[in-house]
Amino acid sequence: MKKYMLDMKVTENCNLHKNYCLLKLTSDQILPDMLPGQFVQVRVDNSPTTFLRRPISINYVDRTTNELWLLVQLVGDGTRRMAEYKPGDIINIMLPLGNGFTLPATDKGQKLLLIGGGVGTAPMLYLGAILKKAGYTPTFLLGARSKEDVLQLKQFEQFGTVYVTTEDGSLGEKGYVTNHSILKDVHFDQIYTCGPKPMMMAVAKYAHANSIACEVSLENTMACGIGACLCCVEKTKDEHHVCVCTEGPVFNIENLTWLN
Ligand code: FES
Repeated sequence: MKKYMLDMKVTENCNLHKNYCLLKLTSDQILPDMLPGQFVQVRVDNSPTTFLRRPISINYVDRTTNELWLLVQLVGDGTRRMAEYKPGDIINIMLPLGNGFTLPATDKGQKLLLIGGGVGTAPMLYLGAILKKAGYTPTFLLGARSKEDVLQLKQFEQFGTVYVTTEDGSLGEKGYVTNHSILKDVHFDQIYTCGPKPMMMAVAKYAHANSIACEVSLENTMACGIGACLCCVEKTKDEHHVCVCTEGPVFNIENLTWLN
């Protein structure tokens, strides 16, 4: 897909949580096509310690307002600077990068489960929106430490049924996503997941053991985002090392070494 470098204007920047902000950006031109699972690289100006662009997954694309949404976890100087952006500020964005999730074949009755943990819930919202628009009824399973860490619940509910696990039991079922009762009660045809690596590995093993197709979106460290620096490589089952930024971030679990 063609890549663009756009100067985008901030329309809104909400603090959803002490560690997350939701940045909404627009452009003078109609936003290009973007696939769920793809990401953008954000140039962070006026942050003396931030030399590299920050990779952020696409949270949502609102075609009615021509807005791109980015859910940003505040983990360092660059992302904390992003939380300070105000409406009207201009940010340089490279997009869309990487591949995307594979949308299912035409059977609209397929049972699709979208599992997100932490900031890994971000791409699941856009994926759910695209699936719903295509006629599917996705199920979401969101994992978090506690009730206040469950983000964008109302937005998820617009696109499908939502189940939640929290580690402290303050919302939904207590425990991890892989312990949720929905996994015992329903046989899904396809799982898509993004989140902390241990969570994704557990989901991948569950999917493989139950013969469920599964794609994961990796969150390897990235710098250039375009296949030049090789800092994001992942080993595949056929002994190749691939760049997550260009060959991924989405992979079929059967192509990774996680199940060995
Ligand atoms: Fe540089 Fe992937 S981030 S090669």
